[in-house]
Formats: sequence, structure tokens, C-alpha cells
Amino acid sequence: MTATQTRPITEEQPKKAARAAVDLRSDTVTKPTPEMRRAMFEAEVGDDVYGEDPTINRLEKRAAEIFSREAAIFVPTGSMGNQIAIKIHTQPGQEIVCEESAHIFNWEMASLAAFSGCMVRPARSAAGTGVLTWDDIKKCIAPKIYFAAQTGLISLENTHNMAGGAVTPLEVTEDICKNAKSAGLPVHLDGARIFNAAVAMGKTVAEITKPVDSIMFCLSKGLGAPVGSLLVGDKKFIEKARIYRKALGGGMRQAGILAAAGLIALEKMPARLHEDHANAKFLAEGIANLPGVKLDVSRVQTNIVIFELDRKDMAASDLARKLGEKDILASATTPTRVRFVTHMDVDREACSLALGAMRSILN
Ligand SMILES: Cc1ncc(COP(=O)(O)O)c(C=O)c1O
Repeated sequence: MTATQTRPITEEQPKKAARAAVDLRSDTVTKPTPEMRRAMFEAEVGDDVYGEDPTINRLEKRAAEIFSREAAIFVPTGSMGNQIAIKIHTQPGQEIVCEESAHIFNWEMASLAAFSGCMVRPARSAAGTGVLTWDDIKKCIAPKIYFAAQTGLISLENTHNMAGGAVTPLEVTEDICKNAKSAGLPVHLDGARIFNAAVAMGKTVAEITKPVDSIMFCLSKGLGAPVGSLLVGDKKFIEKARIYRKALGGGMRQAGILAAAGLIALEKMPARLHEDHANAKFLAEGIANLPGVKLDVSRVQTNIVIFELDRKDMAASDLARKLGEKDILASATTPTRVRFVTHMDVDREACSLALGAMRSILN
């Protein structure tokens, strides 16, 4: 599985039927746990635009502590967190270097152009893993001449969604950041699934994010919160982030109701992510043996399984539709690729059902 550039398909994806389904489209589909719902009900709240929501303040403080940084800010979505970071790090007319299938480039509505006036200089990983090295990035950095648009930012993604949940080794992040610093370039990390990366690496999120300048991470993916992400960095950066969050309409008033669920996601849910990784491996091992499928199981490191469907008689969207008819939901991410994402609302039995459906369709 490589992260070679392909435009994501625009066809309608399968929708969840009223009846129970095994939903492997994304880890964003999780429902809040009973403990989260109770905490939301009981949350102490205030006006967060005035800095008076005690639950949001607690969440931001805990996020900063866990990442060993000065400050953090709660934002409604990962996209907003990334876009605020891009706005702070760049000037209009600059380029952002990121991997060619990165979320900020392909799935954030060209906001980096609309909001920050930047464009992307996409980088391809020479190793075909979707994980960039400094050698891949340096080819994309603009020469320091006045008639070339200048590079303003390097943005990394760990784990990398469209590269099948790939993890960036710490030495690679360190090397990129060391060289970026020498070149005078900031590095932002789209760490929507950084806790998955930390679990796969057996390290803390503070350790694996230490070299970067800013981090966005999501509570609403594998950690199971209904809403919310955090942007983490130094105090000055987060002060600016507060201004741009408001500009984007992200000042949410009594959103301590959301932060209450987020606190449980942050404190308790990383401890169970290894189960999702084991389920993804289980799925990958079963899928790799099916006819017309190309999947390198050794590349499945976290909770995302992306495989290439090599069949003349079936596009990825046909397979997703056929799975949907059997109450198994998956995403066709390109005309030939299908993605399964494991999460807390699919257990081993649900994954076995998904494998059974795959066998009956592809055999
Ligand atoms: C890698 C990555 N970054 C950012 C986001 C954006 O998160 P949100 O959907 O909360 O805007 C996603 C969402 O799937 C993602 O996968």
C-alpha cells in the first residue's frame, strides 16, 4: 500500500441503515460512552469567549500538561485547528509543503488558500510509504530568490490517514524538524490520531511531538468524544489562536458540555487504542488473503486498513456498496481503494462479521 496521489472519489459513500451495522467507515462514527454522557450532563459551564468555562479551562490545561507544552486551545474540529495553525505560521502568497495525500491538502476545502492565502507544494514519499523524510521535503522547498513563492510552513501528518494510518518514526520527525529549523521554517503536526501513533510506538505523545512547533489532535476520532480537537503550542501561539478561532466562528460559549466528554476521552481512552490496532491487524490479515486484493499487512500499524482492489469486475465503490447490503460499512477512498477503520464501537466479533462479508463477496 502506498500513498500515491489519487484524487478522492466524489461518489456518495454508503450510509448507515436504520438497522444495526458494523460501521468501519471511520473512527469519527463512535458514540459517546455512558460515562461521557453523564459528565456532559453534570458539566460546570461558563462563557468560554470570556475564558469563563471551567471545564474547557481544565481540558486545555490537561492537554498542555500531557503534551508538555505551555498552552492549548479547544476547537470544534480538527480542520479548524489545522487551519488556525496554518494562519499563524504563514503569510499570504506562501507555500506549504505537505505529503501529497495529506488531510490539510485534500480534505479541508482548500481553506489554506481561502483563509491563509497559501497554496500547497505537495511532496511525495520516495519510499512509497506516505511518510515523508527530510530528503522528500527539501526538494519542495523554494529557493531563496525573490521571484519564487517562498515556503512558509512544513506540515506533517502522524498517523497518516490516507497512507493507511502510517506512523512517522521519531528519528524522522526529529531530522525533519532539525533541518526545518536550520532553514527557518516552522513545522506543524496534524496529529488527529497522534495517540494512535504514540501507542504504536510505545512512547508518550509528549515525546513524539517534542520536535514540532504546533500540534493539532482530535478527541472525536479514536478517543471517542462526540466533538472537539485541541491545538497545542507555546503561550504566544495559543493567544493568537484564540483570535483566529473567534474569527472563524469557533468561540463556542458554554461548550464545557463538550469538554466534559473530551476530558474523559483524553484521560481514559488512549489506554484502549491497542485493541483497535489489534482488530485492524486481524482484519488486514484476513483481507490480504482474498483474491484481487493487494495489501501489505506489515504496513498496518494502527487502526486504519487501506487496500487496493485489483479487479476488472468491481470498483472500490461497488465493493463498498455490496458490503453495505450486508450491513458492513466501509469507505471507497479512491476508485480502486477501500478503507476500514477500527474503533471502540467495533469489537473482534464485528470485525469477524466484516471479514465474512468480504469473503463471500470476493471469493
Ligand atoms: C488526519 C486528519 N486530520 C484532520 C482531520 C479533520 O478533523 P475534523 O473532521 O474534526 O475536521 C481528519 C478527519 O478525518 C483527519 O483524518
